[in-house]
Amino acid sequence: MKNNYERIHLASPHMSGLEMEFITEAFDTNWIAPLGENVDQFEKDVCDYTGAGYGVALSSGTAAIHLGLKYLGVKKGDIVFCSSLTFSASCNPIVYLGATPVFIDSEYESWNMCPKALQKAYEEYPNPKAVVTVNLYGQSADYDKILNITSRHNTPVLEDAAESLGATYKGVQTGTFGDIGVYSFNGNKIITTSGGGMMVTKNKLAKKKVRFWASQSKDDRPYYFHTEIGYNYRMSNIVAGIGRGQMKVLDERIAKKKYIYEYYKKAFEDIDEIEMMPIADFGESNYWLTCMTLKEDSEISVKNIISAMEKQNIDSRHIWKPMHTQPVFERYPFFTVQEGLSCAEDIFNRGICMPSDTKMTDMDLKRVADLVLELFEENVSAGAV
Ligand SMILES: Cc1ncc(COP(=O)(O)O)c(C=O)c1O
Repeated sequence: MKNNYERIHLASPHMSGLEMEFITEAFDTNWIAPLGENVDQFEKDVCDYTGAGYGVALSSGTAAIHLGLKYLGVKKGDIVFCSSLTFSASCNPIVYLGATPVFIDSEYESWNMCPKALQKAYEEYPNPKAVVTVNLYGQSADYDKILNITSRHNTPVLEDAAESLGATYKGVQTGTFGDIGVYSFNGNKIITTSGGGMMVTKNKLAKKKVRFWASQSKDDRPYYFHTEIGYNYRMSNIVAGIGRGQMKVLDERIAKKKYIYEYYKKAFEDIDEIEMMPIADFGESNYWLTCMTLKEDSEISVKNIISAMEKQNIDSRHIWKPMHTQPVFERYPFFTVQEGLSCAEDIFNRGICMPSDTKMTDMDLKRVADLVLELFEENVSAGAV
């Protein structure tokens, strides 16, 4: 039985019990290495589920973005467009490769890359080397509109689907729209391998090159021979065993995440100041994190909610702070539809990520919802005095 002081997490690892079978097998056969049956099968499981083509299991989603962009030819002096409202791992690899990120604002409909702002960026930078799209908090970006623009300019797309495994756009799995797709299995993701990622692609050469670079670029010779710089980015066979067990419960996890979103939506339906993250009608989110925004005139702020929750040992977070406002990236260009008006900044200022841990019980959800409701009720009664 949970007491009031037991922490409610934002999103923490949720094992199914099926993982140990694969890990034990790796131990029993001594495949304690960055290759083996679990790695091969995990790549296959993810590709079978998503229809992605080929997969290369790696040590992190960030590593997958790094090598994916390298495959797309990104190098020193290049321009790469990237969604601004995201985690820094979407754009750090652009800088690892010596290229310049150019940030694109979000649209309100999906919180993802705004096609109109993307179009504006092309007017000033007609030849970016790649575009990095992101499917934020489990929801797909609007790929018909985005790919319509990028294909006219022949720009390859890297789809950062780190947060959206299992989500769809017009019935097709996210991660499969870009020339390169990336999933993350970090501890907080919809399924986890403790840490890990996967690069997926329909391009056989891309798979071959990324696998080669990720394994220290060892040429096929009887001795160690290197014609290219390599990386130690492969996923271990133990870790991939966790992934195999987790893939078996992905649908279950998505169903629970949706339940959590619907629970909060219902609980807050009478609070005018609260708006749930919009769910665009072009797809089915995996609801990785339930997010919401507070209306501009709300007297209860995001900070009030986060600190009230923290006092009750409940984890909640601000929305990602847009990359173009980060000290490390603020010198790079940023495109919005209307100069001076940023959707990403507005969502950051008014947005909150609610605890969305799939291990939460109805009692946990009630505890969180009641706390938020109390804050708004106290505010109304204080105003009435
Ligand atoms: C949008 C986004 N991109 C990339 C990453 C990086 O993934 P990883 O932590 O596996 O390196 C994450 C999560 O951590 C993410 O949320």
